[in-house]
Amino acid sequence: MNNDVLEVEAEKKSAYIFKVGDPVNFIDSKDRYFLALLEEGKETNIRGNILAHDAVIGQSDGFCLVSSKGHKFDAFRPTIVESVLKMPRAATIIYPKDLGLVLTWGDIYPGAKVVEAGIGSGAMAINLLRAIGSEGKLTSYELREDFKNRATKNVQIYFGDAPNHEIKLGDIYQGIEERDVDRLVLDVPEPWQVVPHAVEFLRPGGMFISYSPTIIQVKELVDALDRTRSFAPSETMESMVRTWNVSGRSVRPELHMVGHTGFLTFARKRSR
Ligand SMILES: C[S@@+](CC[C@H](N)C(=O)[O-])C[C@H]1O[C@@H](n2cnc3c(N)ncnc32)[C@H](O)[C@@H]1O
Repeated sequence: MNNDVLEVEAEKKSAYIFKVGDPVNFIDSKDRYFLALLEEGKETNIRGNILAHDAVIGQSDGFCLVSSKGHKFDAFRPTIVESVLKMPRAATIIYPKDLGLVLTWGDIYPGAKVVEAGIGSGAMAINLLRAIGSEGKLTSYELREDFKNRATKNVQIYFGDAPNHEIKLGDIYQGIEERDVDRLVLDVPEPWQVVPHAVEFLRPGGMFISYSPTIIQVKELVDALDRTRSFAPSETMESMVRTWNVSGRSVRPELHMVGHTGFLTFARKRSR
């Protein structure tokens, strides 16, 4: 191994060093996980197992620590899925299976100018921020100040500093200030109310993306999009994810699954 390789190896090892304020997942021998925020001098009590945060601060992702009862726990930096599922909620989040579809089918790309409403708990915002990168710009509209505050905290803790993210208190049904928007991502009860404004603020080739729990909402939205004649025919879909239990001779689908979350609609803005 030459020196360059050694340096890369050293960088890799120190890429995720836990520091004060970081979220950490403590995972026990039964694969149960417990999310905590690291604080100096703090302890997390998991069923009588005391875990000292000071033992984790300064250690690498994947560090194994021993509790006061002598049990081993893995300390993992939470994945984006674990973060959005476990972070404190203001409103119902868009589930990871649907978040993934928004990012891929919605073609959210590095550098994109994205507008979102409402931010709710911030699950969608965190995923959008990661996909657009530091060159992109995300503006989130939210009606409620308490939800704006919760989402601001969640983004700070579970994503980090985001100077390219602005949360505006406001009603997206009344229109927005942004223009030449690349992607619009909606999770609001009446997305069709945004259609007349979106004709003005989406750039040609931009995309209208909407998440709705009921098909009645989808129908009203698609009719509104079609009436404008400013959008190419839309696509609507839902996703179902079935996880499997693979353990010893028990190799079968999990007994419980999420039956329904919502529908996603995607429509490209025309230039005409
Ligand atoms: C289901 S939550 C969104 C959750 C969010 N997508 C997430 O993944 O965490 C819906 C949010 O939309 C907000 N909202 C509803 N109508 C709105 C409007 N007209 N303009 C802006 N925000 C709105 C609500 O206050 C609520 O926070």
